[in-house]
Parts: sequence; C-alpha cells; structure tokens
Amino acid sequence: MLFIALQVYAALSIQLGGVLAVALKPYDSLAGLSRDEVDAFANGVKVVGAQPVPPPIKDTSLKLVNDALHPWRPLSPGDQRGPCPGLNTLASHGWLPRSGVATPAQIMDAVQNGFNMAWSTALVITYAAFLVDGNPLTNLMSIGGSSRLTGPSPPAPAVVGGLSRHGTFEGDASMTRSDAFLGDNHSFNETLFQQLVAISNAVGGGKYNVSAAAEVRFQRFQDSVARNPTFDFSNPRFATAFGETIFPMAFFIDGRDKSLALDLEVMRGFFQDSRMPVDFHRRDGAFDGGGTEFDLIFNSHDYFPGFNNGSVNNFVADPFFLGTQTVAACALYEKFVNTTVELYPSPSGVLRDALNKNLDNFFLGFADQCTQIKPFP
Ligand code: HEM
Ligand SMILES: *[C@@H]1O[C@H](CO)[C@@H](O)[C@H](O)[C@H]1NC(C)=O
Ligand SMILES: *[C@@H]1O[C@H](CO)[C@@H](O)[C@H](O)[C@H]1NC(C)=O
Ligand SMILES: *[C@@H]1O[C@H](CO)[C@@H](O)[C@H](O)[C@H]1NC(C)=O
Ligand SMILES: *[C@@H]1O[C@H](CO)[C@@H](O)[C@H](O)[C@H]1NC(C)=O
Ligand SMILES: *[C@@H]1O[C@H](CO)[C@@H](O)[C@H](O)[C@H]1NC(C)=O
Repeated sequence: MLFIALQVYAALSIQLGGVLAVALKPYDSLAGLSRDEVDAFANGVKVVGAQPVPPPIKDTSLKLVNDALHPWRPLSPGDQRGPCPGLNTLASHGWLPRSGVATPAQIMDAVQNGFNMAWSTALVITYAAFLVDGNPLTNLMSIGGSSRLTGPSPPAPAVVGGLSRHGTFEGDASMTRSDAFLGDNHSFNETLFQQLVAISNAVGGGKYNVSAAAEVRFQRFQDSVARNPTFDFSNPRFATAFGETIFPMAFFIDGRDKSLALDLEVMRGFFQDSRMPVDFHRRDGAFDGGGTEFDLIFNSHDYFPGFNNGSVNNFVADPFFLGTQTVAACALYEKFVNTTVELYPSPSGVLRDALNKNLDNFFLGFADQCTQIKPFP
C-alpha cells in the first residue's frame, strides 16, 4: 500500500515538474495520497471547483424539444447512461453532453429546458446527487457508472461513482431497474417493465396513470421486501421513490396532451432507449412536485421508511425516522450532508472550498425551512 502510494507520488512529482510525459494520468485515483499531495495534484490539473447555481429559465412554455438541434443518436463507446431515464434521454438528445458526463449547471439547464422541471426541484436533486456521486474538483459527474471523463478523483473514502453508484442516491425498488442485490442496478429490465405493463393494463386502461403508478410502487416495494434481504427503503430512497413514479406522467407525456396517462410504448422509448417520440413537445409550465398525485400514490398504501433487517420478509421501521410518515425535508437535507461528510471526512484546500460551495448551493433548496449545517468550517 505504502509502496504503491510512493510510486504514484513519484509519478506525480514527475508530472508536476513537467519533466516527463509518463506520469499520473488525469483519471487515476488519488487514493492514498496525503492532503498536501492532493492539493499539489489539484494545482497541476484543471480544477474548476464549484460554480454558482444557474438562474431559472425564463420561458417555461410548451415547446418542441425533439428538434433539429437535438436529434436522438445511438451511443458511442464510453458514453455513460444510468438509472435515470430523464437524464439518459437528455444526453441521447444532446440536451446534455452525449458522453453522459456533465456539470451541475448543465444538468440544471437541461432538465429545465428539455422537460420543464422546476428550477427549485432541479436544484435539490442535482446538488444532492452531485455531492455524493460527483467530482468536486473537476465539477463533473457521470449520469451512469464511474468514468475517466470526470477526471482525477479525490482520495478515498470519496467514491465519485456516478449516478449508478448504489446506496448514495441510487436505491432499491426502482420501477424498471433491479435492486443492486438482485441484479443490474442501472439498466432497463424487461421483466420489470412487463410487470409495469401488466399493472397498467389492469388498473390504468392500458396506460401508465396515477392509479397504475400507485400499484407499481407498491408491487416493487413488496417484491423487494420478499426477495432482497438488504432491502433499504429508508431515507433518502424513501423520499425519491415516490416522486420518481410521478415523473413519467409529469415529463414524458407530450405537453399538448393533458390526460396524465402515458402511452406504454412512449414510456418504453424513454426508459429503454433514452428516446423522445417524434415531434415531442415538453410540458407547458414548470413542474414542481405534483402534490396531489404524490399524496394519492403515497397514501394508497401504508408506507414508512425502513429496511429488511438482515433477512427477507423482515421489514422494520428505521428507528431514526420513526414517526416520520411523510417525507421530512430537513432530515433529508441532513442525510445528504452526512453522506457527504462520510465521503469527505476532513477535506482541505481547494477540495474543501468546492464542497462548501456545493453544500451552500444545495442548501438554497431548503433555506426557507431548515437550519444550515456547516460540516467543514
Ligand atoms: C435533476 C437532476 C436529476 C438527477 C440527478 C436524477 C437522478 C436519478 C437517479 C440517481 C435515479 C435512480 C434512483 C433509483 O431508482 O434508484 C433516478 C430515477 C429516475 N429519474 Fe431522475 N434525476 C434527475 C432528473 C430527472 C428528470 C428531469 C426526470 C424526468 C424527465 C427523471 C426521471 C426519473 C425516473 C422516472 C426515475 C425512476 C426510474 C425507475 O424507477 O425505473 N429524473 N433519477
Ligand atoms: C451498481 O452498478 C454499478 C455500475 O455498474 C456497479 O459499479 C456497482 O457495483 C453496482 N452496485 C452493486 C451493489 O452491485
Ligand atoms: C431483471 O428483473 C428480474 C425480476 O426482478 C430479475 O430476476 C432479473 O435478475 C433482472 N435482470 C437483471 C439483468 O438484473
Ligand atoms: C387510470 O385509468 C383507469 C382506466 O381508465 C381509470 O379507471 C382510473 O380512474 C385512472 N386513474 C386516475 C387516477 O385517473
Ligand atoms: C434487527 O435485528 C437485530 C438482530 O435480531 C435486532 O437486535 C434489532 O433490534 C433489529 N432492529 C430493528 C430496528 O428491528
Ligand atoms: C447526521 O449526523 C449527525 C452527527 O453524526 C447525527 O447526529 C444525525 O443523526 C445524522 N442525521 C441523519 C439524518 O443521518
């Protein structure tokens, strides 16, 4: 371990000295290096650090978004796609870099322009994900697995795993992606999609509507309780799992169609192929959560945040969130701050600056209701 670290350090010194081309490559991990070494390396590569949050888009009208400037294209080798059909689609249409590696500002702009997600919603999701899955030094995150394109990573225990990384943001009981314990945690799963089709046929009249969403959510919950001994349905997954069942109705239905019922072949296009239908228009007006639909889905069954306690069919409440029947915003905020601290126990220098700025950016989404936590003074 020490030997490897010394080797890396030797290569690093050579590169910083600018003497030799053979050196630490920009995507090599900096794990094992000391703080000074990391700072030295950071000084030698392009450290962008955190950037300000982009402003809300002004025009939130109905608009053609599968347009001439944003055609669907198949993947090129190395392109990253992951568990989020929204971001996957934006990347495959060039609203995000087609590589699937992007800055928080690019993600915020893309979800607003491409789908009309509200600025405040985009802010919270983007910075939560970026803090736990992104690279604070280069300001880049993969929407799929880890990628060389995000540049050199800060030292372990930081991970910079991208959105496919299990347990930080990505979690269990997804609609179309398997639990990490049971299979592939980020690719479209046909078996799961067929279950969604069956439910939509049974209670949605052949479409994915709020009734179908409620039953899909419950069926996926029950399946994980029955088959995944490591099933984790506590926060933050508890909070994201319900909202995500509404997103398809909010964002994947053409803005000219006011039905709140999503055609299943259109849904497959987004979820499987990261593809908008021909002539697709984004929704009219920004979408900031869908309170009514959320309540309908949340209240259709008796949910509480918890986990399978070491074996299947052993779902218990998470004692920490006991009594938190609804999604508690401040606890959720605190949870993401805590995960950030676990990944970056004692950051210094440019790394600390970048983390602090991103924590400030994330807090903007909670400033009206929570007290700010400052873990890295
Ligand atoms: C704002 C930035 C966004 C980030 C960082 C993000 C990230 C993620 C992640 C990590 C997941 C996986 C969670 C899991 O199922 O375990 C996910 C799921 C999902 N996202 Fe996004 N997302 C964003 C915006 C959007 C948008 C704009 C849409 C729709 C247009 C969307 C639609 C969905 C849906 C439908 C799922 C659930 C997939 C499933 O359960 O099979 N997301 N997202
Ligand atoms: C989830 O997917 C990512 C990306 O492929 C993979 O690196 C990771 O090992 C998976 N997580 C688990 C727990 O299987
Ligand atoms: C897809 O989902 C089914 C049902 O949960 C599961 O049995 C299968 O292993 C999954 N496939 C992959 C590749 O994860
Ligand atoms: C979903 O569609 C079915 C079949 O048309 C309908 O009975 C049900 O009321 C719809 N659900 C909602 C919430 O509109
Ligand atoms: C989980 O199981 C262990 C071992 O049986 C037990 O001590 C603990 O109380 C359980 N936790 C909860 C929250 O039920
Ligand atoms: C966050 O960490 C603090 C300090 O360890 C702890 O007191 C608190 O309960 C944690 N909160 C969450 C939501 O995990």
